[in-house]
Amino acid sequence: MQNTALRDDFVDSVAVASDNRKPDLITVEEAKALDAGTMADLFKEHINPGQFHFMKLLGFHKVKIETAEGMYYVDQDGRKILDFFGGFGSLAHGHNHPRVIAARQRFQDEGRHEIAIAFLSQYATALAKNLAACSPGELDMVFLGSSGSEAMEAAVKVAERASGRKNCKIVHAGNSFHGKTKGVLSITDSDLYQGDFKLVENRIKVPFGDLDALTRVIEADPDIGVVVLETIQGGGGIVSASQSYWKGVRALCDKHNVLWVADEVQCGYGRTGRFYAFEHYGVVPDVTALAKSLGAGKAAVGAMIAKRDVYMKAYGSPKTAMIHAQATFGGIGEASITAIEGLNVLYDEDLIENAAHVGAHLISRLKQLQQKHPKIIKDVRGEGLMVGLEFQDFSKTMPVVLRPMLSLLDEKLKGSLSGFIGAQLLRDYDILVAFTEYNRNVIRLEPPLVCTIENVDTFCDALDDLLSKGIVSIVNGFIKSQAA
Ligand SMILES: Cc1ncc(COP(=O)(O)O)c(C=O)c1O
Repeated sequence: MQNTALRDDFVDSVAVASDNRKPDLITVEEAKALDAGTMADLFKEHINPGQFHFMKLLGFHKVKIETAEGMYYVDQDGRKILDFFGGFGSLAHGHNHPRVIAARQRFQDEGRHEIAIAFLSQYATALAKNLAACSPGELDMVFLGSSGSEAMEAAVKVAERASGRKNCKIVHAGNSFHGKTKGVLSITDSDLYQGDFKLVENRIKVPFGDLDALTRVIEADPDIGVVVLETIQGGGGIVSASQSYWKGVRALCDKHNVLWVADEVQCGYGRTGRFYAFEHYGVVPDVTALAKSLGAGKAAVGAMIAKRDVYMKAYGSPKTAMIHAQATFGGIGEASITAIEGLNVLYDEDLIENAAHVGAHLISRLKQLQQKHPKIIKDVRGEGLMVGLEFQDFSKTMPVVLRPMLSLLDEKLKGSLSGFIGAQLLRDYDILVAFTEYNRNVIRLEPPLVCTIENVDTFCDALDDLLSKGIVSIVNGFIKSQAA
């Protein structure tokens, strides 16, 4: 009797197992052929309905990108969209760089291995060596991961262990952005992102670029072991600090045996005209992190790079070596060779020099536009091809007649000209720009480093044309596009 019951259970479980039929899956070819309406439905049903709302507001939801090359996306109608957004700095080489594509193709054709956990990897070791070669001073030890957040988690952890403090406290800046995983979320200065999460408590916030404030907190608290700073704040609205600030940070950290972590995830990799932005200031941090363009626009690669003595203090013995050894996908084959080829292309094609040269032209043309449209453009700032364009506070310049119409708009965009301008640059001028997390009045310009003087002129001429229409016309145009 008991045996029969057992057998029945077994039969039931086999019945479940034999039901492992293939669900209704979309194939690769079907995925490529999805139209914008279906993508919108799937995004709302399975990814993020709230985020769709913003895409719709800006008119981005109608665009389906089919291909991309160099400075351009190409949409379903063959329209070429000039990319001044650059994936928040992820596309230094432009879209689908031919040398990067060829390296990946060869790697696949040769049937090479991917996962690098069991054996030594010729690709991961070569990438680590290349990153050390690109990095000044003793920044020689490399942890490979798959995102900026993962690289920054590794950076904060290695510094905390190497600081030798038992109750190590971490200093970070106001308006900082270091990622959204829980550790680095704690030092990302955003009420929205931090929400009600239970965060790491050992952190202290100081204003960015204020050496006196940093000195005061470090001198008052010997438990402070780590200072984490973006060299140029991206999410904060492209904000730099002075050379004397950075020299002071280095001297202060040395004096108090505190480790300085420079987050170069967005500003690094040649974007500002030097491989690392901190190189402009003649200082070297103890730990740094790269991601975004490190994957050459084709792979997810992040890296933490630490001074050798810092790394050895944290993980140097066999006993401590595995505490933060790389995760499953760290140093994976095709991603690593993509990054290796990307670094070679960066130097072979003088992309860092190009960023400095073309970026100077961009900033100078934007400053001319600021003089021409002072009621609209408040500030132009940045370094190389990491440029912020800040608009005047909309609430002061907006004619009274438009206010009731604007109240129809989303809370987030109401006070910001950049939403209207970005939406119309895409709709009427085929140009893509990026917004800024903490300052909605700032448009971020981070085009690929292959950007040319002609690309800059195309962008600036379009912006001039749009701004010449005046604020009322820009806002009206946007409101009409919402009705369409
Ligand atoms: C300065 C900085 N640090 C860290 C990150 C996190 O990178 P990821 O989005 O790849 O996790 C970002 C992303 O925008 C960033 O700009």
